[in-house]
Amino acid sequence: MRKKLIAGNWKMNGSLQANQVLIEGIAKAWAAKNKGQAACEVLVCVSSAYFGQISTLVTGFIDVVAIKIGSQDISAHAKGAYTGELSGAMLAEFGVSHAIVGHSERRQYHLESDAVVAAKTLAALDAGITPIVCVGESLQERQTEQTLAVVSRQLQAVLDAVADRASRIVVAYEPVWAIGTGLTATPQQAQSVHAALRSQLAKVGGEHVTILYGGSMNAANAAELLSQSDIDGGLIGGASLKSDDFVQIIAAAS
Ligand code: PGA
Repeated sequence: MRKKLIAGNWKMNGSLQANQVLIEGIAKAWAAKNKGQAACEVLVCVSSAYFGQISTLVTGFIDVVAIKIGSQDISAHAKGAYTGELSGAMLAEFGVSHAIVGHSERRQYHLESDAVVAAKTLAALDAGITPIVCVGESLQERQTEQTLAVVSRQLQAVLDAVADRASRIVVAYEPVWAIGTGLTATPQQAQSVHAALRSQLAKVGGEHVTILYGGSMNAANAAELLSQSDIDGGLIGGASLKSDDFVQIIAAAS
């Protein structure tokens, strides 16, 4: 059975005060509208500066809604002279369950190659952390019909590295042109890429891998996207910073 997952990606947003308001807001909004725990996994990928704070906050609301903590990145290295990096073991010590790897913003601004993304995926698995491997095409690549070639190349680099551990990853399809732009892939566009990714995963035993959609998913469009047969959840940026919107997306997935 595929696990459903709704993951917020807070990116470089938040403050001690704003984080408290947001986590409390999510818990209160969930409790007001729903009975019992969500039927999907709920995750917030926060700035590492706040792991300790968020951990305390989510523990306080565990009876209302179980919120897991994710990292937005992970070092490819286990330890040593890598200034500024965070190892998998460090993340695990703070109870981090998932780490985003290869987000398009890191591929673009930090020049992360497919090889680096593959190495980070391995580092996460070695630390017992579930990697959320992001793939996605640019607008120009979509317009020139290279979408499937690009995402399959990005995914294959990871699959070659993880070998028989493919079933332990999560994949996020995030068309770059849809991230933070308000443009969303249509449910049909997203579904066709998800189906292609799933057949690629199936060749290496990953047919039950959770595949998330990301790119301007919000309270209004989540239900239709999540109703597609190969869309198992969402990786949500902007809308994850608004408690009511995030809770509506969780409800749509549950
Ligand atoms: P968005 O971001 O929902 O704001 O488009 C998604 C992401 O970058 O993961």
